[in-house]
Amino acid sequence: MLLTQATLNLLNQQISHEFNNHTIYRNIQAYFSNLDLDGWASFFGLQAEGEYSHYTHIISYLDDKNAPYEINVLSYTNYQYKDIKEILDIYYATEIVTTTMIYAIAEQAKADNDHGTIGWLYTTPVSEGGLSLVHEQIEEEDSALKLQSEFMQGFGNSDQLNQQWIRIINENLIRRLES
Ligand SMILES: [Fe+2]
Ligand SMILES: [Fe+2]
Repeated sequence: MLLTQATLNLLNQQISHEFNNHTIYRNIQAYFSNLDLDGWASFFGLQAEGEYSHYTHIISYLDDKNAPYEINVLSYTNYQYKDIKEILDIYYATEIVTTTMIYAIAEQAKADNDHGTIGWLYTTPVSEGGLSLVHEQIEEEDSALKLQSEFMQGFGNSDQLNQQWIRIINENLIRRLES
């Protein structure tokens, strides 16, 4: 069954969106790398790779369906971040927008009676042995929220203490990524 134009449009949009997510997280990785905070940098490097895999995952579905697509790289944004608090807000907000968009694809596919696309969204793993796009999204939202609340627990008004806290989380992230 061919994809309807409405579903195809949403999937096309999603390709560019995932690519843009990848760009956002790479820029956050660069921000931390520049500060020599390798735990934070690696964490966002991994998020960036995840986004890239969503991007290729959707492309391969459209290839399987012989559906046309194009990749629109969004226009340049000034990737300057005020502080980590702002970055964590952006991180969580990015994941929420992404979930909303993926659910909109599912809704459209349901309206079209497109069981192939619905099944693909819920069951086809993004990477070998991994989760589907819908289930991976739940995990990504969760990890954004967890990192944000972990960070906010120790974040206060003292610049000096905040710097120490940022380093502690940096060490935590290094340990977690190694295990
Ligand atoms: Fe994604
Ligand atoms: Fe994500």
